[in-house]
Amino acid sequence: MKFIIDDANLEKIKAIYSTFAVDGVTTNPSILAKNGKQPFETLREIRAFIGPEAELHVQVIASDAEGMLEDAHRIQKELGMNTYVKVPTTKEGLKAMKALKAEGANVTATAIYTQMQAFLAAKAGADYAAPYVNRIDNLGANGVKTAKDIHDIFKKNGLKTEVLAASFKNSQQVLELCEHGVGAATISPDVIEGLIVNDSVAMAVEAFVKDFEGLCGKGKTMKDCL
Ligand code: G3P
Repeated sequence: MKFIIDDANLEKIKAIYSTFAVDGVTTNPSILAKNGKQPFETLREIRAFIGPEAELHVQVIASDAEGMLEDAHRIQKELGMNTYVKVPTTKEGLKAMKALKAEGANVTATAIYTQMQAFLAAKAGADYAAPYVNRIDNLGANGVKTAKDIHDIFKKNGLKTEVLAASFKNSQQVLELCEHGVGAATISPDVIEGLIVNDSVAMAVEAFVKDFEGLCGKGKTMKDCL
């Protein structure tokens, strides 16, 4: 499962990159708005930091297929042809996905709430389909199950599209999809940080240090001992 950061704040992206093995960055219009700067200013900084090969996913804004293509071309011009163009999975979006794939673009079908949307996006040739796990949960449905179902539909139908699960609120949602082997998960920095927080681990490590200091002295580590 690829491990992607769902944020546009460069300091937060740098902090996550410094610790975790990360495959790239996803953004959406709301995430860009939260960052405050003009969109391409933010996105160019992110591209420069993550490098030309890392995955960067950027969403179109226009609601008609023609406008989506124009947005896509600007995104590719500014950020590289390998940038994943995120297209909402509406009727116009499906039309745009088909046209973009005919041009050889990388396409991420987004705003996916149902298995059928994901199937149609895959038929249109999308590289990734992004179900919104937590937002689906908030509708009283099961976001993790929806993402797993989509993964299974792709595999059973021989479709090359991979799940790029998005909208996580907790570690359990991430773990369940990791166990199921979905293609990728994009996760906010806060939730990523939470994946490694565990009081039992911290206590175990603390006890090891205390025992060792009993042997060699306070503040001593392996490099200081006989
Ligand atoms: O791009 C979709 C995803 O980032 C949505 O996440 O946390 O706003 O539901 P969230």
